[in-house]
Amino acid sequence: MKAVLCHAYGPPESLRIEEVPSPAVGPGEVLIDVHSAALNFPDVLMIEGKYQSQPPFPFAPGGEVSGVIARLGEGVAALRVGQRVFAGIGVGGFAEQVTVAADRVRVMPARMSFDQAAGMSTTYGTSYHALKQRAKLLPGETLLVLGAAGGVGLAAVELGKAMGARVIAAASTAAKLAVAKQAGADELIDYSDGELKEKVKVLTAGKGADVIYDPVGGDLFDQCMRCINWQGRVLVVGFTGGYIPKVPINLILLKGCQVVGVFYGSFSARDPATNAKNFEEILDLFEQRKIDPVVGATFPMTSYADALRCLSERRAIGKVCLRIRP
Ligand SMILES: NC(=O)c1ccc[n+]([C@@H]2O[C@H](COP(=O)([O-])OP(=O)(O)OC[C@H]3O[C@@H](n4cnc5c(N)ncnc54)[C@H](OP(=O)(O)O)[C@@H]3O)[C@@H](O)[C@H]2O)c1
Repeated sequence: MKAVLCHAYGPPESLRIEEVPSPAVGPGEVLIDVHSAALNFPDVLMIEGKYQSQPPFPFAPGGEVSGVIARLGEGVAALRVGQRVFAGIGVGGFAEQVTVAADRVRVMPARMSFDQAAGMSTTYGTSYHALKQRAKLLPGETLLVLGAAGGVGLAAVELGKAMGARVIAAASTAAKLAVAKQAGADELIDYSDGELKEKVKVLTAGKGADVIYDPVGGDLFDQCMRCINWQGRVLVVGFTGGYIPKVPINLILLKGCQVVGVFYGSFSARDPATNAKNFEEILDLFEQRKIDPVVGATFPMTSYADALRCLSERRAIGKVCLRIRP
């Protein structure tokens, strides 16, 4: 089979497509013929050697895929060959076939496309866990989402709206905000001028947001700490803004607020039962047409570098997917 391999840390162009043996299917695993692999910001960080956990060389990037089950490992009874499925696999998705533990595989709803399904595992898994278990978001609360047209951000906008929150989407361009509006955002903030705090205060009668979902970090995080409502929750999701900010702990005291870490990979490994329940609810929201995953761009497998650059150059809208099988 073909795979896009990283042999040394470097830019997207340093990867190459190679012929490698198909993975062996162990007990309790399934082999998936990959149709689409969705990209996430960690793929960009991983090939540059900047992610928090690094696989050994050579590795194929790609943390999540959709496709068709080609073979079942010993003891797998709940799935069958030929089913259309999606799975979060962490790494290895830029390949024609992957193996994954059967309990991490989810069956695709009939009307979901392979590209939509490829991008479900990480973004919706992360954002639902963040809003439900970590922020305990309540109907009627105000949710501010930064990077609101990116992968996890746009999922947070849709899920926050479906959970009954008033959603303020914040992003860096009018085009990105238009997509967030289409996904259900009630209010929009363009922070391309570096201003966030005052704009949030204006939209919340001076109180600030009850929950802030922050996948960006950097300079904007400090402003988040200054526009969080009394007893609000600031969700620390990621640092695409380039650096990891410091928390002014006096503001935690003054606002009676919480700064809450979100680590979806660890949550899903430690508590697979709650994660599975979350996905039942997420797929139910899809069936009710309360969420509709946005795929902003698709690329053929050979254009893996262009796909990765979409994320690293801040151009991604919703999910970017690599079509492994056209
Ligand atoms: N904690 C967890 O469990 C977890 C799980 C999944 C992902 N994450 C993290 O969440 C973050 C977002 O991931 P994603 O896959 O959703 O990425 P994405 O689709 O590329 O979206 C990232 C967003 O960050 C904003 N951004 C600000 N400065 C940027 C820069 N210099 N370069 C690129 N984007 C920039 C962009 O929005 P604007 O242009 O509108 O600012 C962009 O839409 C990453 O840090 C990732 O590691 C965390």
